[in-house]
Amino acid sequence: MKAEATLSVNGVVYPVELEPGTSLLAAVRDVVGLTGAKEGCDDSECGACMMLLDGKPVNSCSYLALQAEGSEVTTVEGLADGDDLSALQTAFLEHGGVQCGFCTPGMLISATHLLEANPGPSADDVRIALSGNLCRCTGYDGIVKAVLAVADAG
Ligand code: FES
Ligand code: FES
Repeated sequence: MKAEATLSVNGVVYPVELEPGTSLLAAVRDVVGLTGAKEGCDDSECGACMMLLDGKPVNSCSYLALQAEGSEVTTVEGLADGDDLSALQTAFLEHGGVQCGFCTPGMLISATHLLEANPGPSADDVRIALSGNLCRCTGYDGIVKAVLAVADAG
């Protein structure tokens, strides 16, 4: 039986009806209609589904949507300002941090959280912070360079 709830995503409150077992990823993609976060493993392994929940990264495939009621959810769509990409989004494009793009939403969420927590990370800090996000395409170097470039630019 579905339950009525509200989800606050990227600053917008959405009334939703959800089965108790609906994941946050399914709720945001299929009910709210924001498809930036991706379903990869559906098992907390790949990070493609990552979102910020009250500023902290979570694998939304493994988080119940109803538990997110009362919290602020940020998806990759919320990192841009309308059509203006964030500095990190632009740097990913400039430094070869995006190839197929499947991992990119989760990478950007993790990297955004890292730079908020540690504005001056080392390359090792970046690699550790992104260790929960798997990429099959880039070899990670472009992604690390992009995050360091944004950190260097302040
Ligand atoms: S889809 Fe959630 S961690 Fe892979
Ligand atoms: S760019 Fe393809 S998985 Fe990362």
